[in-house]
Amino acid sequence: MPDKTSYEIVDGIAVITIDNPPVNAMSTAVRKDCWAALDKLAADSSAQAAVLICAGRTFIAGADITEFDKPIEDPWLPALVEKFEASDKLIVAAIHGTALGGGLETAMGCHYRCAVPAARVGLPEVNLGLIPGATGTQRLPRLAGVRKALDMMISGRPVSAADALEAGIVEKIIDGDLRSGAITYARALLDGGAPIKRVSQLEVAADGIDDEFFSEYAKGMARKTRGFFAPAQIVKSVEAAINESYEDAVKTERRLFDECKASTHSRSQRHLFFAEREVSKIPDVPRTTPVRDIKSVAVIGAGTMGGGITMNFVNAGIPVTVLEVDEAGLARGMGSIRKNYSVAVDKGRMTEAQLEQAMGMITPVTDYAGVAGADLVIEAVFENMDIKKDVFAKLDETCKQGAILASNTSSLDLDEIAAVTSRPQDVIGMHFFAPANIMKLLEIVRGRETAADVIATALAVAKKIRKTGVLVGVCFGFVGNRMFFPYIREAQLMMLEGIPPERVDQVAFDWGMAMGPHAVMDLSGLDVFYKLNNEWRDRPDDPVYCRMINVLSEMGRLGQKTGAGTYRYEGRKAVPDPEVMDIARREAQALGVQQIEVSDEEIVERLLFSMINEGARVLEEGIAIRPGDIDVIFVNGYGMPRYRGGPMKYADMTGLDKVYAAISKYRDRYGDLWWTPTPLLERLAGEGRTFQDWSENR
Ligand code: 3HC
Ligand code: NAI
Repeated sequence: MPDKTSYEIVDGIAVITIDNPPVNAMSTAVRKDCWAALDKLAADSSAQAAVLICAGRTFIAGADITEFDKPIEDPWLPALVEKFEASDKLIVAAIHGTALGGGLETAMGCHYRCAVPAARVGLPEVNLGLIPGATGTQRLPRLAGVRKALDMMISGRPVSAADALEAGIVEKIIDGDLRSGAITYARALLDGGAPIKRVSQLEVAADGIDDEFFSEYAKGMARKTRGFFAPAQIVKSVEAAINESYEDAVKTERRLFDECKASTHSRSQRHLFFAEREVSKIPDVPRTTPVRDIKSVAVIGAGTMGGGITMNFVNAGIPVTVLEVDEAGLARGMGSIRKNYSVAVDKGRMTEAQLEQAMGMITPVTDYAGVAGADLVIEAVFENMDIKKDVFAKLDETCKQGAILASNTSSLDLDEIAAVTSRPQDVIGMHFFAPANIMKLLEIVRGRETAADVIATALAVAKKIRKTGVLVGVCFGFVGNRMFFPYIREAQLMMLEGIPPERVDQVAFDWGMAMGPHAVMDLSGLDVFYKLNNEWRDRPDDPVYCRMINVLSEMGRLGQKTGAGTYRYEGRKAVPDPEVMDIARREAQALGVQQIEVSDEEIVERLLFSMINEGARVLEEGIAIRPGDIDVIFVNGYGMPRYRGGPMKYADMTGLDKVYAAISKYRDRYGDLWWTPTPLLERLAGEGRTFQDWSENR
């Protein structure tokens, strides 16, 4: 009997069970086994019908993504789906967990579908830069209608079993045991003379789908899908479902799928799929490491970050004690948390009662005795070493043994902070990103002495509060900010060189960034960068470095919050300000910076390659474990588009020789201070290798 499926007859029904842990991905082996099982079904006179079901935690979660970079072996998934459909014996798919991508496509090749109430079904290929490529773009519109099918495929979001039932994607919900329920359902269909329903033969319901529909739909999704390749391909494929015969439309789907699969977008997005799962694998912290129980949290400092951090835990059902310097600080902090929740109430995402319940989970205190019993304490006071040391000394005195003491510092030396305590093994960095209740990224900073179980607990906590935790080492700015500084540095220098900020921002935006560097600085506050730059103790002495941040901050132009920064603001609208370029010209003259013309390509190179060069250094120093970890940081915390794959994947795809050549060119122009190619980059470029290859074969 083949390995990945089993075949058993129950009451005249063949039960074909796929068992390919962990998520029953449709690997070559599974496809082969299913093919053989279908041949057996056809020849088996004791089977009148069949149930397709999966062992383990889920129905088929899709094609096996690890096989996408290899030549596809027969049988192809589309052919297998057609073989399910062509069966002369009725087949019922029995769904639990998630039927995703090729999993739902296989289920749609079956003649009927039943699911447990907790099941979810979807076509999330778009998240991998793909379109459904095993007839999904043709079958889902036939079952659920064009608009619903498009909405599911463009968002990539699975729907609940109840929603799927209503939409016609599944025909029955099974309460209780799925296997026996599905067998009974198949038997009832047989006994009731139900026809073999072949989805490909159904008409696509085209009511309300006129000539304009698809162009209007494409326009409607434009803002959310900006820059991505796959969404428009999905729309084209569904359009084919209306305008072409099923056979031709399937060929169109294949062509559009192949174009997506070969694109840099899909390669980037597939890379991120695995990178985001790999970040939790820490070489010297095995998965079996015990984690500490986190039932209560304390947050020190209820400012911008403290408030958002508090909300994360409350939203996950964990009570939080908030400590501030005085009652006024507490009132301010609690007021902003309440205000944030009120916005959710106004938008209908939360009820008044839920708001009050959430606020009831927060205990405001001004005395350290109030945080003594917390399992995890997160400090979010001002970014100042002396204040942080003072706070940690107090925490060391008062907190119970075994409590984890975390700092939200965005740049400071965690080891220096840990050294003021008698328990540096319990000290860790938990660097949230603003707004802390929304941004997915959590940089977890490992100090010299941080214990393995503290690291494992921080990673588990990240998961619990639905963040992507990435472990990094101690250095100024850790990974994210350290690599972001060169990007900002170049944007700043270009201003002195006479290149208007709005042009640099536009080029960065067109490359795919959520916002250009100047707009980001105005949003965060120029004073934040000003202070950070001053905290950077071993910053090279360069009067040109981020000069405009200093000048504008000292003028009180701090960004959006003061109505003017690099731009002027009319409400929230940024307006280019000629006065800023006048100041830049004067500063450039005083500093001897030449006015130059640059191409858009140069703008991209200087912003991105400066960052990548620093990334190579971060890898070389072991501050990030893998290049993929850096990529995860940038797409989750810095608005880099997923279709670029993150800075290191982008470098790999551009070719490290090209990156190296460009960096060398800028070194020749600007000197060694900022543009010396990192030895790792130089070596890999010379060897024709990638960061990924280096990481896997060190
Ligand atoms: N192929 C290969 N491996 C997969 C996989 C897939 N489709 N889906 C998940 N895995 C692996 C993960 O990499 C992970 O491996 P690891 O343990 O070594 O890190 C393991 O399975 C468990 O995955 P998760 O950690 O994500 O487990 P969760 O329980 O959190 O989530 C899930 C389960 C919801 C199924 C989630 O894994 C998921 O969303 N998977 C991807 C689904 C998907 O995108 N399907 C479409 C694939 S493309 C396709 O089908 C093309 C077709 O149209 C032709
Ligand atoms: P903030 O100024 O908004 O809030 C700091 C709060 O700490 C204030 O409410 C202040 O009253 C309180 N505080 C100061 N000293 C205290 C003490 N000794 N005990 C108790 N409370 C005290 O600052 P913000 O922006 O929230 O930053 C906090 C920390 O988070 C800093 O380390 C910062 O670097 C970091 N961070 C900030 C980000 C941002 O975008 N604002 C992003 C990521 C990290």
